[in-house]
This record gives sequence, C-alpha cells and structure tokens, in this order.
Amino acid sequence: MKISPSTRNGLGMPLVGFGTYQLSNEQAEVCVCDALNAGFRHIDSAEGYNNEEGTGRGIQAAGVSRDELFVTTKVFPGYKPWGSDEKSYEDTIGTLKRQLKQLQLDYVDLYLIHAPFSELRLEQWRACIELKNLGLTKHIGVANYNAIRIQEILDAGLDIPEANQIEFHPLCAQVELTGFMKKHSIAPVAYSSLAPLSTWRVEEGQGGEVLAELKQEGQTVINDIATKLGVAEAQVLLRWGVQHGYCVLTKSSKPERIRENLNIFNFEISDNDMERLDKLNQNQAIAWAANGLNPMDVAAPLR
Ligand SMILES: NC(=O)c1ccc[n+]([C@@H]2O[C@H](COP(=O)([O-])OP(=O)(O)OC[C@H]3O[C@@H](n4cnc5c(N)ncnc54)[C@H](OP(=O)(O)O)[C@@H]3O)[C@@H](O)[C@H]2O)c1
Repeated sequence: MKISPSTRNGLGMPLVGFGTYQLSNEQAEVCVCDALNAGFRHIDSAEGYNNEEGTGRGIQAAGVSRDELFVTTKVFPGYKPWGSDEKSYEDTIGTLKRQLKQLQLDYVDLYLIHAPFSELRLEQWRACIELKNLGLTKHIGVANYNAIRIQEILDAGLDIPEANQIEFHPLCAQVELTGFMKKHSIAPVAYSSLAPLSTWRVEEGQGGEVLAELKQEGQTVINDIATKLGVAEAQVLLRWGVQHGYCVLTKSSKPERIRENLNIFNFEISDNDMERLDKLNQNQAIAWAANGLNPMDVAAPLR
C-alpha cells in the first residue's frame, strides 16, 4: 500500500504523531502549534506530562479543524512505590473530564491507561469503557501492556483494547507481543522510536545517557542506511516503524526537526536494510530506564 502523510490506520490515527513528553507548558504551546502548522494531525499527550494546558493552547492557536485532528491522552494509573495514589473507577472518569478542560476539547480520539502499574487496572479499564460510552473518547486502549496484562482484560470478559502504545525501535522490537496484538487486532503505536540515536534526550535531566553504551553497534548501521538513502537517521528510524505497520510518535522542541520527522513518505527502506535493522534487536527497553524500571515488567497483583 502506498502511504502518505494523510494515511491513517484503522482507528483513523495518522501514521506519524507528535509527542509531548518532556516539554514544559510553554514549550508544548509553541511546539504543538508548530507541529500542526508543519502538517502533523496527531498529537500524543498524557496526564503525567503536566503540560496539557500548554498542549491545549497550542491546538487552539493552530486552528486546525477538530475533525482533522487525532488527539490521544492517557490517565496515570497511580503507582504505589512512587507514593502515587492508585485511581479508582470514579477517579479515572474524573481525570479525563479534567484533562478535556485543560486540552480545551470536548472529546479525545484515544484514551489510554498509561501503564499497568495499579492493582485497580481492571476497574480503571471499566472506567475507560464507560468514558467511551459517554462519548468523551472515540477509542480506548492501553500503554506498556504485555500479553499477560492484555489477557487479564480478555479473561474478565471486557472489551479488548483498541490500541497498545509501546516502546518500539530496532533495539526493542517486541516481536512476540506485536504478534499477539496482531492476532487480537490491537493497533500498535510506537513510542521513543528515536531512542537508538546519540541525540535522544541529551539535555540536562532528560536521562538519555542511561544505557547509551548499548546503542553503538546500531548507530553504525542506522548511519550507513541514512547516508545511502540521503535522509536523516531519525527519518530512517521513523520509517522503519511505519514500514512495520506501526503508527510512530516523535517529539522535538526544534522546528526544523519537527518538520524533518514528518517527512518520511518520499523514500523507502529496502527489504535488505529492514533486515539489517531488525537484526539489531536486543529486546532492550530504554525509554523508562532513567526511572529505574521497565513498565512492562511491573507485576502489580490484581485486586
Ligand atoms: N506511553 C509511554 O510510556 C511513553 C513513553 C515515552 C514516550 N511516549 C510518547 O511518545 C513520544 C515520543 O517519544 P520520545 O519523547 O522518547 O521521543 P523521540 O521522538 O523518540 O525522541 C525525542 C528525542 O530525540 C531528539 N530528536 C527529535 N527529533 C530528532 C531528529 N530529527 N534528529 C535528531 N534528534 C531528534 C529530541 O531532541 P529535541 O527535542 O532537542 O529535538 C529528543 O531528545 C513522547 O513524546 C510521548 O508522547 C510514551
């Protein structure tokens, strides 16, 4: 299938989304507006990013019609080891209502449980189903759920998540999980596609230095393919995700990179080079490592 910037997946989600993690409210306002002006029509937000007011102002400033936009946000479920209270059914309902006010929206397109950190996750999932029934979100899904966590939802006889947002890049290819998701028609959405790059999260306090030593071999291969295609390394990584059938999310605070990251539809990675990238897989999650955990490995018992 020929893909273009306007191609959408089965949920109506444009293939490349603009991520907002590690942006202040002020940066989110400017960068979300820049991203929409550059042609992005898919924004990824979260309660935990503490910048939804800025994101909402950026959306307003760009003036894109609501029908064209796809906005995802997430509820932070609570996490006991961090002293964060676990959210009940009512808390989850109230959270999206509060987020919608901050985002200045009547509904979001996709609402996700940010991670399976809470013993109350089935109760939180029931609340997501209700939020969809109320029309406050068009679609519902999860993030950082492995097959066991998704199976819990199936075993409880509840509606299956429509999407699972997970870390996905050549060093963390999630082969078995994506096979499971395909079997259950759960749309894959990739975050931190640029984690293999030396430029990923390099500013003070962003945590990109953690596990940096794992990336060197991959960087040589990525650079070789980028040089051959005459594109940026970031574009190779985003294109790799899209060629695997994923929607990809990418964040930048810089206007030229924001434009570059959307410009991945005028070249193709050959089968041979896709294989070289696939062979870099170490099943190594990197994105949350600075927080000292892999969210997929957290095994909070169900209550
Ligand atoms: N569900 C989850 O648990 C979860 C976890 C992580 C992320 N996410 C979502 O996924 C989004 C994307 O992940 P991410 O924030 O890790 O973003 P990313 O796009 O993988 O990487 C962003 C980092 O790469 C740099 N960068 C961006 N474009 C570049 C380019 N063209 N060339 C070189 N360097 C570039 C950025 O620096 P500058 O900003 O300085 O350009 C930043 O340091 C997040 O913003 C968030 O919305 C979700």
